[in-house]
Amino acid sequence: DWTTGSFIDEKAEEIRAQVGDDHVILGLSGGVDSSVAAALLHKAIGDQLTCVFVDNGLLRAGEFEQVQTTFRDGFDIDLRAVDASDLFLGRLAGVADPEEKRRIIGRTFIEVFEQETEAVTAELGHKPRFLAQGTLYPDVIESVSFKGPSATIKTHHNVGGLPEKLGFELVEPFRELFKDEVREVGRQLGVPDAIIRRHPFPGPGLAVRILGPVDREKADLLRQADTIWLDELETSGTYDDVWQAFAVLLPVQSVGVMGDYRTYEQAVCLRAVTSTDGMTADWAKLPYEVLGRASNRIINEVRGINRVAYDVSSKPPATIEWE
Ligand code: XMP
Repeated sequence: DWTTGSFIDEKAEEIRAQVGDDHVILGLSGGVDSSVAAALLHKAIGDQLTCVFVDNGLLRAGEFEQVQTTFRDGFDIDLRAVDASDLFLGRLAGVADPEEKRRIIGRTFIEVFEQETEAVTAELGHKPRFLAQGTLYPDVIESVSFKGPSATIKTHHNVGGLPEKLGFELVEPFRELFKDEVREVGRQLGVPDAIIRRHPFPGPGLAVRILGPVDREKADLLRQADTIWLDELETSGTYDDVWQAFAVLLPVQSVGVMGDYRTYEQAVCLRAVTSTDGMTADWAKLPYEVLGRASNRIINEVRGINRVAYDVSSKPPATIEWE
C-alpha cells in the first residue's frame, strides 16, 4: 500500500528524527535524484539544509541558471552555486585520455565541495554532520554485487560518489526506490517537469562528449549543437521515447561548401538511444525528418560545424557515451 503521499510524510518524519538539530549538506547535480532529494530534505528540515551546486564548465546549456532559479528562487533553498569552471577547465587543458579526464573532474569536484563545506562550517560554527544523497535502490544493489563491465571499463564519478573520508553521516531517503518512484515523489513535491523528465547526464558532463582535449570554446560549440538536438526531439515529441540523447564533438575537420565558399570545419555526431537501465542500449530509430531538421539547423545555426552524423551503434559492443 505504498503511496507517494505517505512516502513523503513518513520519510520527512524519519529525516527529522535522524537529523535532529544538526545540519545537512547536499551535492546538487541538477539531475533527477539529487533534485528530488533536495526538495524532500527541504520539506523535512527547511533551512537546516544547504545545497552545493558546482559548475565545472561542462554542464548543458542553461543548466547552471535553471538549477538556481528552481531551487533558490522557487524552493527558497540555501543553495551555494559555485562557478568553478576555470579551475576544472584549467586542469583539463591538454588532457586527451578519457579516464584521466574523469579522475581530474572527480578529484576537483571533491576539492570544491570540501571548500564549500568549510565555508558552511565557518558560518554555522560547526561542521554539518550529515551528507544527503539521492542514492537509489539499483545503486545500492550495484555497489554491493556489481563489479561488471561498466564499473571497470569506466570509472564513474557521480555526485553521489563522494568519498567516506569526508566524514559525514549519510541521509539517503531513496535507498529503497526505483527511478520512476523518485520521479513521482518529485512531481508531488513540485519539482518542475523539465527536471523530472530529464535524461541521465554523466558526472564528467561534456568532457566525455568532446573527444580529445577539452576547452571552453569546444564546450560552447558542443552546447549549441546539443541544445538544437534536444530542442528538435522535444518539438517532434520524441524526447521522452529515448533514454538519452546528446551530441558529440568529433576531433576532425571536413570540407563543406557555403555559398561560394569552401569551408573546413568540425563535425558533430548525434546520439540517441533507448534503454531501461543504461546497461544495454539500442540506437533510436528516429524518423528521418527529425534527424534532417536537426542536421539542417545545426549546420545553419552553429558557426564552426559543417557536418552532422548519426550514431547507429548499440551497446554492447559500443557504449552509450563515446568516451
Ligand atoms: P556507457 O557509456 O558506459 O554509459 O554505456 C552508461 C551510462 O552511464 C553514464 N556514464 C556516466 N555517469 N559518470 C557518470 O556519472 C561517468 O563517468 C559516466 N560515464 C558514463 C552514461 O551517460 C550512461 O547513462
